[in-house]
Amino acid sequence: MLSDQAGDGKRTSLHGFWSSRMAFILAVTGSAVGLGNIWKFPYIAGQNGGGAFVLVYLFCVVLIGMPVMMSEILIGRRGRRNPVASMALLGEEEGSSRNWQWVGGMGVLAGILILSYYSVIAGWTLEYVAKSASGVFTGASADLVGAEFGAFIGDWRKVVLVHTLFMGLTIFVVARGVERGLEQLVKFMVPALLVLLLVLLGYSMTSGHFGEGLAFLFMPDFGKLTWESVLVALGHAFFTLSIGMGAIMAYGAYLPEDTSITGTSTAVVAADTLIALLAALVIFPLVFANDLNTAEGPGLVFQTLPLALGQMPGGAFFSTIFFVLLSFAAWTSAIGLMEPAVAWIVEQFKKTRAQAAVMIGGLIWLLGLCSAMSFNVLSDFRFLINVDTDGDGIMDAKGTIFDNVDYLTSNIMLPLGGLLITVFAGWVMCRNSTADELGGSGGFYTAWRLLARFIAPIGILVVLINAVS
Ligand code: PHE
Repeated sequence: MLSDQAGDGKRTSLHGFWSSRMAFILAVTGSAVGLGNIWKFPYIAGQNGGGAFVLVYLFCVVLIGMPVMMSEILIGRRGRRNPVASMALLGEEEGSSRNWQWVGGMGVLAGILILSYYSVIAGWTLEYVAKSASGVFTGASADLVGAEFGAFIGDWRKVVLVHTLFMGLTIFVVARGVERGLEQLVKFMVPALLVLLLVLLGYSMTSGHFGEGLAFLFMPDFGKLTWESVLVALGHAFFTLSIGMGAIMAYGAYLPEDTSITGTSTAVVAADTLIALLAALVIFPLVFANDLNTAEGPGLVFQTLPLALGQMPGGAFFSTIFFVLLSFAAWTSAIGLMEPAVAWIVEQFKKTRAQAAVMIGGLIWLLGLCSAMSFNVLSDFRFLINVDTDGDGIMDAKGTIFDNVDYLTSNIMLPLGGLLITVFAGWVMCRNSTADELGGSGGFYTAWRLLARFIAPIGILVVLINAVS
């Protein structure tokens, strides 16, 4: 495997390259911006008390997320393989061991597990496109919107149907290859999402309790912060940036040599954080204005927005567009979640992309059935982690399958993956290799190396140890 160097001493990608720097930025942004920003961030910020949690999340994004993302891209571009093979190859080349491939392997597994429930929630957004367009929310009361949501997720056939539909769409795109189609979608989707969020922000500023929402999100009350919420904030920084599991590493493998890794990472991190904060700024004023529960949980965005928009002129239209864009955002993220597994199957077992997409996608669909049913028929099947079911801040039950898979992947696997990736890039890879990829040894390089060698790994370890002990 080490003999496949290109003539200039650099390896070349097995799957082709991004057509331009912009194409790469779009793909990474498409992967980063998704349900994490609009569905997950607001609901976990609500469950973890707002302000202090948001602040910790922002620190994690900058001090840990940035160096991990840069490390992933540089490893991917230097290895030019799927995450498993890149880690094995570089591990050997840098004089360590091929065992680093297990980090890639854990990423492949994390992607499969995350997509199994991600697809279920993405299915909800598809359902909400139809529901919004049908006008059921026009003038509806909070009780009605809540009942509508409860009845939907309580019906396993519907939830499984939309999960199936979403996985079908994802498999379709992945089967067609890395370069085609999607870049175009992201180019239109991310700006459209931004504009729509700004329109909704205008609405929320005038009709919601904006001051209250702002205070909730940005006035930290550190009394509410536990190590557990710090771990959730850290886990979410990984989840929302698509890092710690090799998605960005897999994309980095198709990146041309001359693209700046620092510049790309900064742009993606900024866009992703902006969209998450905007979504929360839209949602919380409406939560307060309608007397909803900030700690509502996974149903938060599916109840708050239809309710508020149902009272706004043209609400059915805006609500439909909103869920269409959210479905697109979920779609481009789902593709990133599958990429490490698919690239691995293609390279390792010499399958075509289409075969790999169907195999992996089928497995994910099957696993997803468990999460889909954890909201209805299996809702009493609870184990392992503790959760707060009524939003009063007291952990009063064990988690469902969905809760457990989400916790295990976001809060354990991704941070652990990120820890090993930064240790690899910061300590195992020699200075020359990383400086070569990051373009020299100036101030940015020194800052990256400091973060990747010390701040990020130590930060992750401290949070993990304190939260699980
Ligand atoms: N970042 C995506 C989101 O916020 C989820 C994701 C995680 C995508 C990991 C790819 C890899 O929705």
